[in-house]
Amino acid sequence: MFKKTILCIGAGYVGGPTMAMIANKCPDYKVLVVDINDERIAEWNSGKPPIYEPGLEELVNTNLNKNLFFSGNVAEGIAEADIIFVSVNTPTKTYGKGAGKSADLKFWELTAREIKKYSKANKIVVEKSTLPVRTAKAMERILHAGNPDVHFEVLSNPEFLAEGTAIRDLNTPDRVLIGGNETDSGQKAIQELIDIYSHWVDADRIITSNVWSSELSKLVANAFLAQRISSINSISALCEATEANVKDVAKAVGMDSRIGSKFLNASVGFGGSCFKKDILNLVYLCEHYGLPEVAEYWEQVVLMNDYQRNRFVEKIIQSMFNTLAGKQITLLGFAFKANTGDTRESPAIYVAKSLLDEQANIVISDPQALDYAKKDLADCVGNIEYCEDPYTATTGSHAILIMTEWNEYKDLDYKKIYESMEKPAFLFDGRNILDHANLHKIGFNVYPLGTPPLLNI
Ligand code: UDX
Ligand code: ADP
Repeated sequence: MFKKTILCIGAGYVGGPTMAMIANKCPDYKVLVVDINDERIAEWNSGKPPIYEPGLEELVNTNLNKNLFFSGNVAEGIAEADIIFVSVNTPTKTYGKGAGKSADLKFWELTAREIKKYSKANKIVVEKSTLPVRTAKAMERILHAGNPDVHFEVLSNPEFLAEGTAIRDLNTPDRVLIGGNETDSGQKAIQELIDIYSHWVDADRIITSNVWSSELSKLVANAFLAQRISSINSISALCEATEANVKDVAKAVGMDSRIGSKFLNASVGFGGSCFKKDILNLVYLCEHYGLPEVAEYWEQVVLMNDYQRNRFVEKIIQSMFNTLAGKQITLLGFAFKANTGDTRESPAIYVAKSLLDEQANIVISDPQALDYAKKDLADCVGNIEYCEDPYTATTGSHAILIMTEWNEYKDLDYKKIYESMEKPAFLFDGRNILDHANLHKIGFNVYPLGTPPLLNI
């Protein structure tokens, strides 16, 4: 018999791994994950998760159908649950007021209404998706409207996991943050959530605050991380102009213990479902509260990211004699980072589209992300080939672009690749992961990030 039933609504990148970890660490709880996407649920139930994440499959299969269950029956799940985590998607709005900046809350509000409809007893509702500050309050109002007999206590418990390292991040989190009301029932609900996390997280890493601080902390953490990337990317442009090397600068700067070395890798730009969305959310909030200077300050982080992607494309065009028409260009990597098949906001999407606009023929290779790549580029006109094998993908190409920092790209036989390419052969390392001096020796015209190119012709 289980002590309590935990329900998670939304079986995506956040809900799936988080619940698999809770089920694994809390055998005394029943963990049920529901989703309106039946195909996704069927994949979770098959033991082969619909998302690629190192260590996830093993974790799911250890607990599947013991205390971890996946179902398409949202109503039944809500009725049964004591604690409901909400991790449905909250993309940036594409229409109406706040379009392009504020979060689209339609999935989230639908969920709140469903929780209200099917709840017959008191429940704790936990916001897991990143939501605009004060959403929990709105959720509380929807849940209680016309439903006086059932009490809902809404908590904010933002997820800080990063894709590709989700299982490690969940297993040893830097911190678990729980925001709740300062009332007695709010504090009691916080304690219920602490009881769950205490199964494996040390007490000093579980911190609490009011709901709004918790909601805001998630946005701010992501804004700070993205800001570091935009900062180093801005310096990469200066390094290319001055013959400094951005890697050396990042190393020297990062060794200052007050600054730290993480998130200082210059790249073609950050992607992922969170950074841009969360910063734009923050910008929208600041504008809403009449703080235009603060809004502008944070918006610059996103603008710098756009600049970096544009700069990358312009460098390709200029260095390849100002024409890409009819040339074959291979993108090695399409995922927004290594160790995930996720392509949301991947800089590769933007780069691929820009190359197609220039009438290049593009070949896309990625060990995990080709299915999503095909969907992302479905509406594009032009010649696009998809090919998992990097050697086949690069044969006959004029240029290679390293778009994702997959480990396997570090160990390819670049001599063999060079021999199979059109000459002069170009290589643009959008992730700065390759041995540029060696590539230069092989014969490539090499364009690293944040340091001048190494040219053979
Ligand atoms: C991020 C946050 O890290 C995580 O805490 C939050 O819960 C969700 O958003 P995620 O987007 O999965 O996680 O990946 P992250 O590792 O943060 O990388 C985001 C993007 O930044 C990737 O495109 C990555 O390649 C890029 N990046 C990261 C850099 O360009 N340079 C770096 O130094 C680090
Ligand atoms: P995240 O990265 O935030 O986890 P995903 O898009 O990977 O986002 O996952 C969100 C999941 O939420 C999707 O599988 C989607 O089908 C599901 N979802 C959206 N709305 C609802 C809803 N009303 N009820 C149940 N599941 C929902």
